[in-house]
Amino acid sequence: MSIEAFKIIGGKKINGELSVEGAKNAALPIFVATLIEKGTYILKNVPNLRDIVTLTKLLESLGLEIEKLSNHSYKIVNTGLKSLEASYDLVKKMRASFLVMGPMLAHEKKARVSLPGGCAIGSRPVDLHLKGFEALGVKINIDHGYVEGETAELIGNKVVFDFPSVGATENVIMAAVKATGITIIENAAREPEIDDLCNFLVKMGAKIKGIGSGRLEIEGVKKLYPCEYSIMPDRIVAGTFIVASLMFDGEISVKGVVRDHIESFISKLEEMGAEFEIEGDVLRTKTKLSQLKPAKATTMPHPGFPTDLQSPMMTLMCLVDGTSEIKETIFENRFMHVPELNRMGANISTDANMARVTGIKNFSSAEVMASDLRAGASLVLAGLLAEGETIVNRIYHVDRGYENLEIKLQALGANIERIKVEI
Ligand code: UD1
Repeated sequence: MSIEAFKIIGGKKINGELSVEGAKNAALPIFVATLIEKGTYILKNVPNLRDIVTLTKLLESLGLEIEKLSNHSYKIVNTGLKSLEASYDLVKKMRASFLVMGPMLAHEKKARVSLPGGCAIGSRPVDLHLKGFEALGVKINIDHGYVEGETAELIGNKVVFDFPSVGATENVIMAAVKATGITIIENAAREPEIDDLCNFLVKMGAKIKGIGSGRLEIEGVKKLYPCEYSIMPDRIVAGTFIVASLMFDGEISVKGVVRDHIESFISKLEEMGAEFEIEGDVLRTKTKLSQLKPAKATTMPHPGFPTDLQSPMMTLMCLVDGTSEIKETIFENRFMHVPELNRMGANISTDANMARVTGIKNFSSAEVMASDLRAGASLVLAGLLAEGETIVNRIYHVDRGYENLEIKLQALGANIERIKVEI
């Protein structure tokens, strides 16, 4: 059997502009939200990613008709759901599939969705999602690896999350928009992708107050109306590209940056000595890598430092003289890129959820393995800087979250190609 890998000949100068695609983590819940109401939807600025393909298959199995209109736009037609069951086969590939539960409950008052199962970056339970549904009057039963939910009527209520889970917040919002009465979500996640989902739902006629805050107030409505919507730019891809711009001494500019969406990340880089100019949505830096100072970063729910930018930040810190520290508080096992970066000459030690990174002059080329999508992109960046040939295996992870990464990098002059390797 063969799988795809990137072969990179690093150590070359690269320069130009990297353009950020639409946000995966906003596109996924917005696609899912079209389950809530019948009609025809047009979604624009949708990234071309493996996760979108996976979700499309799941939504089609439930009865939606999905057509790709052009490179980044889709038509989704909901003529009613043909199935109320999301199977293990389709859910296991991507945890975000569990988001179909809220919309199916909103539409049909009934759903059977496979538990997502384990995941490389931690156990990732769905207890908070279920607690939210139960508060709205849904009777939950877990049977043979499936969550079954049913109710005669969804009734608005107060939902207080112990932790601001992104997925649980989205699932409960989607269940609540057509519930009877008012739902209040306290300690809601505040990630910008949740604002994007809310803005989409509001465009459909949903009544949501407090968007962007930790307290959402959703007044259920009888009917929603399908609409056309353009997905926000991907702030995690933007952050990854900003790391690339610093690793290459400012020779790369990044188009599609909304500073507000990654304020904590950009201010951490400024604390390290980086200076940025943002004109419209294009970010440039004149700061050289050698000017950066070490720092300490702790991942937190938004507006804190995003866990999804932890591995790109660590890759950058590997090249900063002195000792930096990263504490991961969102996911267990999210340091799987550490041994891979160390294979490339990095000097990183970990103790539980803490990583200590001592700067090196440069990475050295090696054969490595992507452990998740962000980690995979980080290894690609390291490979571009290392002299000689680096192979990054298991790039299906990278394809889940970065659109045409190698093609975008080739346009900057990078020597990177997609190859097949036997396993
Ligand atoms: C989303 C993002 C992911 C990002 C993460 C945190 C999508 C598709 N994915 O994932 O890229 O890394 O937010 O910013 O948007 N938890 C529970 N019980 C629950 C739900 C979550 O204990 O019911 C825990 C998880 O195990 C994890 C933490 O809460 O440790 C954060 O999870 P959550 O915010 O739900 O992340 P996701 O929605 O899965």
